[in-house]
Amino acid sequence: MRTLRALVVAALLCLLPVLPAHAADLTYDFEDGTAQGWGPRGDGVSVTATADAARTGAGGLAVSGRTATWHGASIPAPFTRGIGYEVTAHARLAAGQPASTIAMTVQRTPTGGATTYERVAAATVTDAGWVRLSGSYLFTAESTDLQLYVESSEATAQYHLDDIVITPLGDPTREPITSDFEDGTAQDWAPRASAVLEPGTAAAHTGTRSLAVTGRSASWDGPALNVLGRMGKGDKYALSVWVRLGPDTASGRLGLSIERRTGGTPSYERIAAPKDVPAGEWVQLSGTYTPAYDVEFLSLYIESESGTFPFYLDDFTMKYVEPKPIETDLPSLKDEVPFTMGSAFTRPETLGTHGELLAKHFDGVTPGNELKWDATEPRDGEFTFTDGDHLVDFATGHGMTIRGHTLAWHSQTPDWVFANATKEVLLERLERHVRTLVTRYKGRIAAWDVVNEVVDENQPDGLRRSQWYEIAGLDFIRTAFRVAREADPDAKLFINDYNTEFPRKREALYNLVKKLKDEGVPIDGVGHQLHLNIEQPPASSVEATIERFASLGVDQQVTELDVSVYTDFVSTYDTIPPELLVQQGHRYKELFDVFRRQAAHLSSVTVWGKSDDVSWLRSWPIPRLNAPLLFDDDLQAKPAYWGVVDPSRLAPLVRKLAAPAGAVKVDGRRDLEWDLLPDSPIARVGDVSAGFQARSAGAGLYVLAEVVDPTVNRDDRVTFTVDGRTRSVGRAGPGVRPTATGYRVEALVGGGTDVEVTVRDRGMEIAWKGEVSAVPAVKRTWAAHRAAPVLDGTVDRAWSAAPEIRTGTWIQGTSGATARVRSLWSGSTLYVLAQVSDPVLSEESANPWDQDSVEIFVDPGNDKTKGYSDDDGQYRVSFSGKVTVGGTFDAAGIRDNVRAVAKVVPGGYVVEAAVRLPTIEMAEGALLGFDVQVNDATGAARTGAVTWNDSTGRSYLDTSHWGVLRLAG
Ligand code: XIL
Repeated sequence: MRTLRALVVAALLCLLPVLPAHAADLTYDFEDGTAQGWGPRGDGVSVTATADAARTGAGGLAVSGRTATWHGASIPAPFTRGIGYEVTAHARLAAGQPASTIAMTVQRTPTGGATTYERVAAATVTDAGWVRLSGSYLFTAESTDLQLYVESSEATAQYHLDDIVITPLGDPTREPITSDFEDGTAQDWAPRASAVLEPGTAAAHTGTRSLAVTGRSASWDGPALNVLGRMGKGDKYALSVWVRLGPDTASGRLGLSIERRTGGTPSYERIAAPKDVPAGEWVQLSGTYTPAYDVEFLSLYIESESGTFPFYLDDFTMKYVEPKPIETDLPSLKDEVPFTMGSAFTRPETLGTHGELLAKHFDGVTPGNELKWDATEPRDGEFTFTDGDHLVDFATGHGMTIRGHTLAWHSQTPDWVFANATKEVLLERLERHVRTLVTRYKGRIAAWDVVNEVVDENQPDGLRRSQWYEIAGLDFIRTAFRVAREADPDAKLFINDYNTEFPRKREALYNLVKKLKDEGVPIDGVGHQLHLNIEQPPASSVEATIERFASLGVDQQVTELDVSVYTDFVSTYDTIPPELLVQQGHRYKELFDVFRRQAAHLSSVTVWGKSDDVSWLRSWPIPRLNAPLLFDDDLQAKPAYWGVVDPSRLAPLVRKLAAPAGAVKVDGRRDLEWDLLPDSPIARVGDVSAGFQARSAGAGLYVLAEVVDPTVNRDDRVTFTVDGRTRSVGRAGPGVRPTATGYRVEALVGGGTDVEVTVRDRGMEIAWKGEVSAVPAVKRTWAAHRAAPVLDGTVDRAWSAAPEIRTGTWIQGTSGATARVRSLWSGSTLYVLAQVSDPVLSEESANPWDQDSVEIFVDPGNDKTKGYSDDDGQYRVSFSGKVTVGGTFDAAGIRDNVRAVAKVVPGGYVVEAAVRLPTIEMAEGALLGFDVQVNDATGAARTGAVTWNDSTGRSYLDTSHWGVLRLAG
């Protein structure tokens, strides 16, 4: 069985020949009184079997007469190309010989190349006792004149050898590789360029030694390990290595990469993206790799993100990961949905269990990278389709519908495309590119993302300022669609974008598509990428987007669905909490409820990868553990899969809701109090959906249900159950009022924590179940409507029209700098005055948040999404008037909205800031999410921080705990 497997693997393996069957160990014990094939290497050397040189039994090999370090005992090496061997031997010096290093080495001459000498094992040996030498060996290039020999660093050392054993490792692609450097050698690691590798005791992760790397000539220069022949194509390997910065190196980022070459062309891939290695700490770099190509060179290496600083490495391991078989008894996704069920895929995923999983569940695919411009036309007019063809052939062979992704995009597009391009030249390049790709796959690629991500809702015309746009304006879009249509009139042509579920982006895209369609540009459909997260945005906004575009009469597809477990761009989990995966299952359920309901408008739904191990969210926006897809790393179904296929298999979802202290009048009117926070959604079933909130008070729990239910029915009712006590309110009951889309229920119920809200409509029910906890009231203030104040650090009279709030919620320390804050508004600008008391001021730290500074947080619309939406901002002003902006991953949408001055005054400083809020209608009554934080620096460290409302210390990541500011008339 093992032999058969080895044969199959070997047949797939790189460009190597089929392996012979697993052979037996070769043992040289010299018990028969002969040298058993070993002979002298070098003039004058003598090699004899004698009892004097025996370690065990009555025979050993005595080696004498040496006059050069490379002299010794040798044998024609019994090694076969492509097979790994473990080689062990025992050595000791003849009596009276000084200690030296004895090494086993292989000499061979690759066909057409120069003779090489490869170290198998080495150790320090004395005359006092036997030392074991052990190492592994594998060669993969056609070679002649193979010799295995034993040499010594002392040219004349006489030594004894015994018990030499050569064990074939069987299938080399299944054998683990480890390097611990404990034997004092570099254990097959070699420099990529001029780096110096020295095993030594200066640092060690475990044991006493590691490998020191110095003298690097470039960020990519450092230690490399040849793994050609040690990885099977389509097989998965887990890799890990520990690294530490060298002496006198304060900081640096290191990562693990692999270089492969096919037909002489090198490609570089990251296994572990470079990460921060704090001085003095060992940091693990780990990842998995699945080779997907025939190669003649395969080498792992450790590189820095930048710089040539020295470092140490230790405890490297590479292990074959046995694939779990895919679950064949599951329902196939594609049979469970009323549209094409697609997945993004890349070349490695056409192999092994990955390929099986794709074939079982999906009837559509999108090449993840292989049809992008950098992959298909890396140089002007030089087209490469090896990978694209491979993927298209795979898909065609499995009867799958193919989405072509993508013809014109600002990313993954080589620089030459825009270099020296006039509009005319750029459009010519575009035309040739589009024509070449679409023609090549005519009749096979059913839909193309003709343009990708061209909308920027923060621009006045809604168009992204890409190089395409800067050089060619809208004509690049017109040209791309025209040429694609000409090249394959049957292909469906899409405009594809992300965040289309957000109202402002939705409208910008809508307007663009409408305008282009009115002009006659052949747009067949709109692609919604749908890169979502576990919290945001609600399924209802996805549905609103689909409904909006349905009115344009275009086809729609979901093109890149995934659900990140993170709501911000910096957090990381070491292991993802299981309850989050359950929550994700419910999120997928709600999304697929929307897709099924809207199936008339959706021709396909594509997930951006089928299993978590291949997700792009493992490296974007930062390298971190993420699990956004339907199958796990072992290709087994997650709750997310069951959310799509059979939600009854999901563990029930226990939601968490904060009930701030507060009271309302129970009359069915929506008090301002309810608008401080968003309603917690109860997802739509049929025509009915709802939102729920609670406030805690001495009298009990005030509850609110906003029900969307267009048809009035006698049985319509909302039931609140708190700690087992039930209150049911009919549509005509007390505390109920009709709304434009349904009705609103308010009630005061007994206090408690376990809450269930059910909304009934005829025979159907929707429900919210969770734990409600009492928290402090949400603070609120207001801004006076006044003429714009002059920003000069002097407190004009105008400010006294607004109420003063004070920071008093300590998130670091319990005392220090605080601020009194007032705000005004005028036009579309919010003005904030902060009078800070802070007698000792410092800007010593390089981190702006560790300097004496004020942070103003603004969430236009008071959406209170967990992470930052693209118009939410953190605006920081230091006491010297330096402005920094944080919050969103890409602050492009808000960066230019702030102006501020600061002025040092006795006992502190004054900040006056103006924040433009172009994304909302500024009018009396509008609510903004709002908070203020004062950072108190002592020297280069922050020693205190205090906010107005948010007590979580996470204002810079999460907008949902900020207070509220109301614009007054
Ligand atoms: C991603 C790929 O999945 C990654 O492998 C690659 O490194 C970067 O691009 N929106 C898109 C896709 O339209 O093309 C992107 O794909 C993900 C975001």
